[in-house]
Amino acid sequence: MEKIFDCLINSFIEDNIGIADNFLSISLAANLKENLNLLFKSNKLLSAGVGNNQIITQNKLIRSDVIYWLDRKHNNQHENAFFDLMDKFIFYLNSTCYTGITGYEFHYTLYETGAFYKKHIDQFQNNGSRQYSMVMYLNADWKIEDGGELCIYQNDEQLNISPSNGKSVFFKSSDLAHEVLVTNKQRMSITGWLKVN
Ligand code: OGA
Ligand code: NI
Repeated sequence: MEKIFDCLINSFIEDNIGIADNFLSISLAANLKENLNLLFKSNKLLSAGVGNNQIITQNKLIRSDVIYWLDRKHNNQHENAFFDLMDKFIFYLNSTCYTGITGYEFHYTLYETGAFYKKHIDQFQNNGSRQYSMVMYLNADWKIEDGGELCIYQNDEQLNISPSNGKSVFFKSSDLAHEVLVTNKQRMSITGWLKVN
């Protein structure tokens, strides 16, 4: 476990973009993916910004994914296993890097074929509580022609990261602009933020 945490943290320290393959075990990734599939089939996934039609309409030009927030109150075994893993990671991150993270939020995310998320920064303009962004992918056998890469911009360079199964990507929410390129296949993930209050 600590080896995989170190892998994510060390690559982050090296060039501001942490990447760890196999951050999620194959079984946890498969179980979370099954949860997400069930949520999709029962129409539980919604566009971000729900409740405000104007915001949703504006948002759809920027992003076309649909989401569902994870919550320990769901008493779902696999969601709780995911939160246990995140609790361990945050304890490790805080003890080794003095990051002072006090909370987090995570949602399931599904991009249907043709969906995208245009270039953006994750921190809200009026709220600086999101410190680190973290994405974990749930897509077995992702191929180059499937598209849907996470593209991160840094110093006139761009890094394209394929959303392959179990991989985690970690970066500072206020710093790095990034986008999700159009996906040619259904693309699933868990996306979240580590926060200070
Ligand atoms: C986001 C985001 C990246 C990805 O949800 O804010 O940038 O690869 N996601 O899904
Ligand atoms: Ni983002």
